[in-house]
Amino acid sequence: MPRDARYDLLFEPVPIGPVTARNRFYQVPHCTGMGYTMPQTVAAMRAIKAQGGWAVVCTEYCSIHPSSDDSPYAFCTLWDERDVHHHKLMTDAVHEHGALAGVELWHGGMHVNNRLSRHISLAPSDSMPYHAHPMQVRGMDKQDIRELRRWHVVAARRARTAGFDIVYVYAGHDYLPFQFLSRRHNRRHDEYGGSLENRVRLLRELIEETKEAVGDRCAVAVRLAVDELQGADGITCEGEGRDVVAMLADLPDLWDVNVSGVENDSCSARFSEEGFQEAYIGFVKSLTTKPVVAVGRYTSPDRMVSLVQRGVLDFIGAARPSIADPFLPMKIEQGRLDEIRECIGCNICRSGNNEGVPIRCTQNPTMGEEWRRGWHPEVIPPKTSEKSVLVVGGGPAGLEAARALGQRGYTVTLAEAATELGGRINRESRLPGLSTWARVRDWRIGRLHNLPNVDIYLGSQIDASHVAEFAADHTLIATGAYWRRDGQGTHTPFGVPGCGEANTLTPDEIMAGSQATGPVLIYDDDHYYMGGVLAEQLATAGLEVRLVTPHAIPSSWTSMTDEQGFVQQRLLRCGVNLIVGHVLEEFDGSRVRISCVHTRRTQRVECATLVPVTMRDADDTLYRALTEADTNAITALGDCAAPGAIVHAIYAGHRFAREFDSTVSTELLFRRERAEL
Ligand SMILES: Cc1cc2nc3c(=O)[nH]c(=O)nc-3n(C[C@H](O)[C@H](O)[C@H](O)COP(=O)(O)O)c2cc1C
Ligand code: SF4
Repeated sequence: MPRDARYDLLFEPVPIGPVTARNRFYQVPHCTGMGYTMPQTVAAMRAIKAQGGWAVVCTEYCSIHPSSDDSPYAFCTLWDERDVHHHKLMTDAVHEHGALAGVELWHGGMHVNNRLSRHISLAPSDSMPYHAHPMQVRGMDKQDIRELRRWHVVAARRARTAGFDIVYVYAGHDYLPFQFLSRRHNRRHDEYGGSLENRVRLLRELIEETKEAVGDRCAVAVRLAVDELQGADGITCEGEGRDVVAMLADLPDLWDVNVSGVENDSCSARFSEEGFQEAYIGFVKSLTTKPVVAVGRYTSPDRMVSLVQRGVLDFIGAARPSIADPFLPMKIEQGRLDEIRECIGCNICRSGNNEGVPIRCTQNPTMGEEWRRGWHPEVIPPKTSEKSVLVVGGGPAGLEAARALGQRGYTVTLAEAATELGGRINRESRLPGLSTWARVRDWRIGRLHNLPNVDIYLGSQIDASHVAEFAADHTLIATGAYWRRDGQGTHTPFGVPGCGEANTLTPDEIMAGSQATGPVLIYDDDHYYMGGVLAEQLATAGLEVRLVTPHAIPSSWTSMTDEQGFVQQRLLRCGVNLIVGHVLEEFDGSRVRISCVHTRRTQRVECATLVPVTMRDADDTLYRALTEADTNAITALGDCAAPGAIVHAIYAGHRFAREFDSTVSTELLFRRERAEL
C-alpha cells in the first residue's frame, strides 16, 4: 500500500551538521543490558532498527573512561582500540541499511560507583555518591577537568574511527556535564561554578572540543535535560534549562532534549500520557536554528506530523516505540499503519538493564534475541510440514502462539472459552493506568484476522474429549492462571488461616466486579503491580485501604520498571495506609493479625475485606487431564505453565511458534558471546 501523503513530511531528509538523515525517525540512545561485553548482540539489534527505517540509530550510554564505570549494569565503552573494533560491527551494520549511527559519549560523575574499575568517582564538588555506596565522590580539581576534556576528545576520535556519524555530548539524566550545570551538585567557586555562564563552561568546552575533533565528518549532538521535574530545586524549562539552550543555541549540530531523571524521561504509561514531554521541551526550537529531537513514547503518526508542523521538533525521537516495533517507520512509509506494534508503556524494557540482563519487551518478543537466536521481528521461517495446531486459550500466550504459527503458515485453530479474546489482558487493562496494555491483545487480534489459515472459536469450553476428537497434530494449552484465595505465598508457604473464607476477595473477583467493603486490607506478597494498582482503584472509589507487604516498600519489583517512586507517591496521595515489613498471620473475618518480619511482634488490624495478592495457580486442569491420559503432543504455555508477567506469556507463545516443527537444538538454546582466549 502506498504511504498516505499526510505523512510525507516524516520522510523528508534532514541535514545534521555535515551528515544527513534520510527521514525524521530518530532512535535516541537507549540501553540494551548488553553493553561492551556483547558487541555482536548489540550490532544485530541496532541493525534491525536501521532496517526498519530509523534514519538515526544510536548506542546506549558509552563510557569515555574507566572513571565512568556503571558496573554491574551494562554500558558501552570507548576506552581503547578494541572498543573501536567492537563498535564498528554496529556502525557497519547500521550503515548497510542506510541509517546514520550515533554514539552517546558518557561520563556518569557522581552517579557511578566504579565498582569494576575501582577508580575514585568524580563530581563538580565533593559529594555523597548518588547511589548509596560506602565511598564518597571527589570534587574535580582543574587537572581533573583538563583530563576529562582530554578523555572526551580521545573518545570522540575513537568514535569517528569506529564509523559513527553523530557524536553526543551527554548533559542529561543528571550525569557529569549536567552535574556541572546544576546548582545542587556544583558548589564550586572557580570559573566552573557560581554563575550559569560558569556552570555552562564545561559543556561549552566539551561541545567545542568535540566539534574540533570530529566536526568535519561527524555531527555533534547535545543531549540536555531541560527540566528535572523538581521545581525550584532543579533545572527547569522556564528557568536555567531554557537559559542553557539560549546560551549554546547554534553551537551543537543537533539538540536532543528531554526531562530528567531517567524515571521521569522513560515514564511508564501508568503515570504519563504519550507526548507528555512536549510541555517541557516545546520552547527549544524557538532558540536555535539547529534540528531538534525529542521523545514522549510517540507511536501515533498523526501526532508525529503535528509535532513537526507545529514546529515543536524536527525529528521524532523514540526509545520504547523503536523497541516495541523496530519497523515502525517502514510501516508508516508503506501505509501499513494497522501493523504498527505500539509500545504499551509497561517499562519491562527498563527492567533488563536494571536486572543486568539483555533487554526484553512485552510487545516485541524478538527484542534482545536478534543475534543469539537469530529472531527477526517481522520475518519468521515458513512452515516445514502440513501439521495442524489447536490452541486452547486466547490470552497473551495463546494469541501470540496462534499469530506466529499462523504467520508461519500452519493450520491453526484457536479456541477461547470466553466470548472475547484477550484473557487476563481484558481484566488488567481496565485497571487504573493500564489501558494501553490492551494493545498487546489488539495488535495480535488484528494480525490474526489477516490469516486465513487461523480459525477462531469464541465461547468454546474445551475438554479432553474435544481435544481427542479434534486430533490436531499438536495441542497448546494456554488457559492462564488465577489468584489463590488462601494467601499462600513466599512468606506464608502453608497459606493463612481464615484467608479465603468469609470476606475475602481475590484480585480476579475484584477485576470481575465484586464489590469490596471497607476497611479493605490488601496483602501483597507478589510485589509487582497488582497489589498497588488494586489499592489505588479501591482507594479512589472511596474505600479505606491498607496495603500490607513483607517487603520494605510497596510494589517493590516496580523498582525494576522505574515506577516504584511513582507507585508510592500515588498510593500515599490516594490515602492508602502502607504497612511494610509485615506478614499476614490470620484473618477472622473482621480483623487480621500481622507480624513484623524482623521482630515477629504482632498487631491486629481491622479489615472488612481481605484481598490476598500472593501466589497464582496455573489453570491447568485440562493440561493435566491430557497428560494423564497420555495424549501426545501437548504443551502447556504461558501462565498455564508458570504464572508470570505478560512479557513472559508473549515470549513463551512466540518461542513455541518459532521452534515448533523445527530442528532447533534444545541443547544449544542460544548463542553466547564469550571472551576470546
Ligand atoms: C530501556 C531503556 C534504556 C535507556 N537508556 C538510555 C541511555 O543509555 N541513555 C540515554 O540518554 N537515555 C536512555 N534512555 C532514555 C531514552 O533515550 C528516552 O529518552 C526515554 O525512554 C523517553 O523516550 P521514549 O518515550 O521514546 O521511550 C533509555 C530508555 C529506555 C526505555
Ligand atoms: S517493554 Fe513495554 S514499555 Fe518497553 S518498549 Fe516494550 S512495550 Fe514499550
